[in-house]
Amino acid sequence: MWDKIKSVFSSKSQTDTEEAGEKEDTEQHEKVSEGEEEEAEEEVDQPGMWEETFKTHADTKPNGPSSISLDFSLPGVEHVYGIPEHADGLRLKNTDGGDPYRLYNLDVFQYELFNPMALYGAVPVLLSHNTHRTMGLFWLNAAETWVDVSSGQVGVCTDVRWISESGIIDVFIMLGPRPNDVFTQYSSLTGTQAFPPLSSLAYHQCRWNYNDQEDVSAVDQGFDEHDIPYDFIWLDIEHTDGKRYFTWDNNKFPQPKDMLQGLLDKRRKMVTIVDPHIKVDSSYKIHTEIRSRGYYIKNKDGGDYEGWCWPGNAGYPDFTNPEMRKWWASMFAYDQYEGSMENLYTWNDMNEPSVFNGPEVTMHKDALHGPWEHRDIHNLYGFYQMATAEGQIQRSGGLERPFVLTRAFFAGSQRYGAVWTGDNAAEWGHLKMSIPMCLSLGLVGISFCGADVGGFFKTPSAELLVRWYQAGAYQPFFRAHAHLDTPRREPWLFGPDNTALIREAVRQRYTLLPYWYLQFYHAQRTGQPVMRPLWVEYPEDIATFSIDNEFLIGRDLLVHPVTDERSSGVTAYLPGNGEVWYDVHTFQRHDGAQNLSIPVTMSSIPVFQRGGSIICRKNRVRRSSSCMENDPYTLYVALDSQGKAEGEIYIDDGHTFKHKTDKQFIHRRLSFTANSLSSRSVPLTNIIIPTRPCSPCFCIWVVNIGDCYNVPDVLHPSSTDGGESSVEFEFDPDTAVLTLRKPGVNAGVNWTLHLR
Ligand code: GLC
Repeated sequence: MWDKIKSVFSSKSQTDTEEAGEKEDTEQHEKVSEGEEEEAEEEVDQPGMWEETFKTHADTKPNGPSSISLDFSLPGVEHVYGIPEHADGLRLKNTDGGDPYRLYNLDVFQYELFNPMALYGAVPVLLSHNTHRTMGLFWLNAAETWVDVSSGQVGVCTDVRWISESGIIDVFIMLGPRPNDVFTQYSSLTGTQAFPPLSSLAYHQCRWNYNDQEDVSAVDQGFDEHDIPYDFIWLDIEHTDGKRYFTWDNNKFPQPKDMLQGLLDKRRKMVTIVDPHIKVDSSYKIHTEIRSRGYYIKNKDGGDYEGWCWPGNAGYPDFTNPEMRKWWASMFAYDQYEGSMENLYTWNDMNEPSVFNGPEVTMHKDALHGPWEHRDIHNLYGFYQMATAEGQIQRSGGLERPFVLTRAFFAGSQRYGAVWTGDNAAEWGHLKMSIPMCLSLGLVGISFCGADVGGFFKTPSAELLVRWYQAGAYQPFFRAHAHLDTPRREPWLFGPDNTALIREAVRQRYTLLPYWYLQFYHAQRTGQPVMRPLWVEYPEDIATFSIDNEFLIGRDLLVHPVTDERSSGVTAYLPGNGEVWYDVHTFQRHDGAQNLSIPVTMSSIPVFQRGGSIICRKNRVRRSSSCMENDPYTLYVALDSQGKAEGEIYIDDGHTFKHKTDKQFIHRRLSFTANSLSSRSVPLTNIIIPTRPCSPCFCIWVVNIGDCYNVPDVLHPSSTDGGESSVEFEFDPDTAVLTLRKPGVNAGVNWTLHLR
């Protein structure tokens, strides 16, 4: 084992020390007792053990060399997953003969696909899975870490070797045995996904940059003119006064509150970027306060650490210091962050941290956080997005749920907001890669994940952009974003046909918001991923184990986005023997398990609802999600082969903590069985106090009634809270869909509707 560690580190140090002379620490030699001398001499002889250089950077390693490692053998296991973030397939590869997976948060320029290189975030959690058991390994270490995956020597077996540069061995083994057990076990250690405001699950429009207030207003109107809903518009670094965060460029954004009020009037929101590098400028309050309070990270000599980033020379707050976090949180108060309002939220970027002139574009490892070297806690820096989330909570007096997007992350980051996969590119390969990257994050607790729709670098063709909207509409965090140097790409700039296709994709997202919200409600309570690989729900079906071009949202929606150029068809795997799947657009029924060939056109987004499920939608799409707040729900009841279906509906105010503090929510179980559809309170959910007069749960139900029932001429639904009345209905014998309109039942009470 030690040989292997040395080979990993020595091969690294050989490259790193190209310009370095070999340095011997004679003092250290003297401390070694005779018996250990031979081995110690060998170690000391390794170049880079006591001081290392990377290009022009020196790592002084004042505490000497260290590393820790442990091997695990997983007998009977061929499939392992997790340890994000890497731009690689869902199933981890054998790293024999190649580089191990690296976990070291870095700002990587134009990252490569199918590469185990380190990216922006790190979650040292690996899952193993076979038909009998799912298991998890959580290597709790925030230093630079490498993970080797290899086939074991005897029989079917996978060996996993963890190597970290510093710290202690602190490992949690999560025994499962089912995937859901591992998620519960892991979330008992690091927490579950924060329950986001409902609006943050809707569509976000971003680019680097929207130039000024007029630009924001024109883009905002563009959405209305083209009848495309959106909830958030984002401002990147150029909105600030010289990259001084918490400020506005007075020429471009002279009246930020007017701008925010304009958005608020339309029930829309904004996000501004607040990066952690703070411009060293004695006239900038944020800097002078952090400096005078001694809250900056220190360099090895005890002075404030300084590095180069967007604003030029910058200091880096030490977020490991609780006092710093408290102070940072207080900066989001309305009277501190001038021009901010309640509909302004935050984007924490560059928090690996990115240091343009640092080794590997990050911080020197010998920088100091109090007594701790940066080396020991590097991968934790982005985790301190927690202080931003806390700031948003505090500014609302503890009432409102925060929304913070972060680029860097660690185990537990799910408790504070959303992550995205950083600076991808407008290429088909990157569109494809967005699926396994988000799936891997979901497996390790981070459900609120997305990729820049359209690709950040380069310019997408209209076809790629449309396909990316169609895929992004079915991924948890749905935001379009683009680099400063790329041509504008608002959805209406590619001709009316493409505008219509993008409009349709975004509208599909909005109709499904009740379902997304329910999934996040569950993720918060149980730690189950929202976007899941098929094997999580079909753990015994080997055919699912390597699939990463399609996925499930919750249990009941299966999505196979089109990610190939000029595609005329895709093959989707519909899992589950005895399972029934319905195409959500045509209601056509397909049996599982099968590989289904699906012809596609530019308007196709292959999505299937599982038979046996009831999914709630809101079909009347308006300009933002909060405009749809009081609209009726439509229940899509998809029967299984026994003619039964079950589902849930969850409703609360969509943005406060009152669901928790005051139990203000509605959570009901819906079931269709024996010719009756009913709604009952979910047991054990406590007192249910509707937040407002309950939205009527009416309009249409679609029952894939198939061969199970003879549809009568007249329907007499009766409900427990009212008398009997007939209800309008239509039956389409071709699709076997029964549509009932205006059943007149209410979401907050028990009711049963009998079909007779
Ligand atoms: C980083 C971010 C990108 C952002 C840019 C400017 O590259 O990843 O999303 O637009 O910085 O802030």
